[in-house]
Amino acid sequence: MKSTRPAHFSTAFSEPQQALIEEAAARLRAGGTVAFPTETVYGLGADVTNPAAIKKIYSIKQRPAEHPLIVHIGNISQLSYWAEEIPESAWTLAHHFWPGPLTLILQRSSRIPDCVTGGQHTVGLRMPAHPIALALLNALGPQKALAAPSANRFGRISPTTAEHVRQELGSTVDLILDGGACEVGLESTIVSFHDRLPHILRPGGITLSALETALESPFISTTADPAIRTSGSLPSHYAPATPLRIHSTELIGQHVSALGIQNLRVLIMTWSEIELGALRAHASIQIHSMPRDPVLYGRQLYATLRHFDQAGFDYLLVEAPPDHPDWLAIIDRLQRASHH
Ligand code: TXA
Ligand code: MG
Repeated sequence: MKSTRPAHFSTAFSEPQQALIEEAAARLRAGGTVAFPTETVYGLGADVTNPAAIKKIYSIKQRPAEHPLIVHIGNISQLSYWAEEIPESAWTLAHHFWPGPLTLILQRSSRIPDCVTGGQHTVGLRMPAHPIALALLNALGPQKALAAPSANRFGRISPTTAEHVRQELGSTVDLILDGGACEVGLESTIVSFHDRLPHILRPGGITLSALETALESPFISTTADPAIRTSGSLPSHYAPATPLRIHSTELIGQHVSALGIQNLRVLIMTWSEIELGALRAHASIQIHSMPRDPVLYGRQLYATLRHFDQAGFDYLLVEAPPDHPDWLAIIDRLQRASHH
């Protein structure tokens, strides 16, 4: 390991890994795009101050230009470089959860170009907790940041491995850094301070109760302001191509029988030890058990959906997750995946 690396980068990179990170930084400085791992999902990054590079992100993702991008920073202190009028409670959350799966929406500084925010006066900022993401930001240099949406085509399932990124974006991106499977597996929780009070725009890797504990107060609201354009808040998003339906534990057996009788190929995704009895013997029906723990379930969700989406099923039937706040992000993603 090179001795020049700051102390907070605890991971030792091999020489080839370090060389790849340097190459990625060089591509980004030259206005290119690089897909990189974060602890949530893989991001498709470009230099935030380079509008031509930002345009490439929108065209690679086929994302409408009015949907703003999250800006990734390598250090908490850079928050006040890219944002202004930061409320005390936003600092509290940053210190509590960064690096980590939390995005803060704040008044943007004039250093953020219009094209990053879709013309909005706010900017989403996040310090990711993946050593490769942090090393890349560090290699880019101070007063640099990466605008990066999830590295998938607009509306599709977010990638949680480098192989998923290759499948989604292929050679349209200059370089893909491989950091293995993402630990959280779901996107960051987005908290907006557009009116200086905290609002949850998207549930994600940080739970509501963890946010409330950090702020020592109940949350102001979990409903998005309709004036705010959050692509993750569209009814249909994070969606597989195969129709996906969510059914309660009580009713799932009935629905599966109905489809089985029609000889449709059905994948059932359960989390409880629901008794599916005779269905197990049905040739056109496959049962996949997910973890009972929301952290583990969230980590596997996108890879599982992606896998079964490509396996030729007519329907993906998902057992409704427990009605508990720790499952909010999972319920949110499943509902969007089921909205065709
Ligand atoms: O975990 C994550 O957040 C991942 C990793 C790569 O960091 N990124 C991610 O980016 O999920 P993306 O673009 O797929 O989703 C970002 C969401 C979008 O729904 C976008 O509309 C919203 O954040 N967003 C970004 N800036 C915003 C702003 N100024 N106001 C409101 N929403 C904003
Ligand atoms: Mg996305």
